[in-house]
Amino acid sequence: MQYGKFITFEGIDGAGKSTHLAWLERFLQEKGLEVLVTREPGGTVLGEALRALLLDQRRTMHAETEALLMFAARREHLDKVILPALERGAWVISDRFTDASFAYQGGGRGMALEKLEQLEHWVQEGFSPDLTLYFDVPVEVSRERLQSARAADRFERELDDFFERVRQAYLQRARQFPQRIRVIDGSSSLEKVKAAVTEIVEKFWSTQFDRDGKE
Ligand code: TYD
Repeated sequence: MQYGKFITFEGIDGAGKSTHLAWLERFLQEKGLEVLVTREPGGTVLGEALRALLLDQRRTMHAETEALLMFAARREHLDKVILPALERGAWVISDRFTDASFAYQGGGRGMALEKLEQLEHWVQEGFSPDLTLYFDVPVEVSRERLQSARAADRFERELDDFFERVRQAYLQRARQFPQRIRVIDGSSSLEKVKAAVTEIVEKFWSTQFDRDGKE
């Protein structure tokens, strides 16, 4: 049985990743694949309980507590959902993964990147997504989009300079892993963003087939 692929979606809050995630799910299903869509923090019963704690705007916590809880949820997510699905050949799409910890806890909260790297090695043992779509938008654009959405969670209540640091940390991560992380300009029209996503995904799809020696 061929292993599935793991694709993650990233961006600051309000970058518009959800619309494109739903589109990718359909695209892959039409190729005849089993597709599993999940999210972080969350994706398991325990992970969703941790998500509720992490996003609750009445709560405060140390940046490292926040990171440890994110990685605790991730450990469970990998063990119970992501790895078993990939092993049975399903393609897994996750709305956020470890790049978000580097962006939010690292960039946003200022946690030392070395500590995050240690957690990443500990929890993932070298495992990482096959492809990451990062939707890049200026903070003002994401703010406008968020204002029309529902009540702000603990992260969405942060100030603009927090999101600017998150955005810069994502861009830094994209420079560090240029093969895996594809930066998409999320501020252009829906059609243009969709065209960019389509191009990246179709290219990724065809390289998988070439590399795996099929067709
Ligand atoms: P988000 O994915 O934006 O969900 P929704 O669309 O329902 O608001 O919310 C998750 C929040 O968690 C988001 O603000 C980013 C944050 N987060 C981290 O800070 N670190 C992480 O490792 C992950 C996965 C998410």
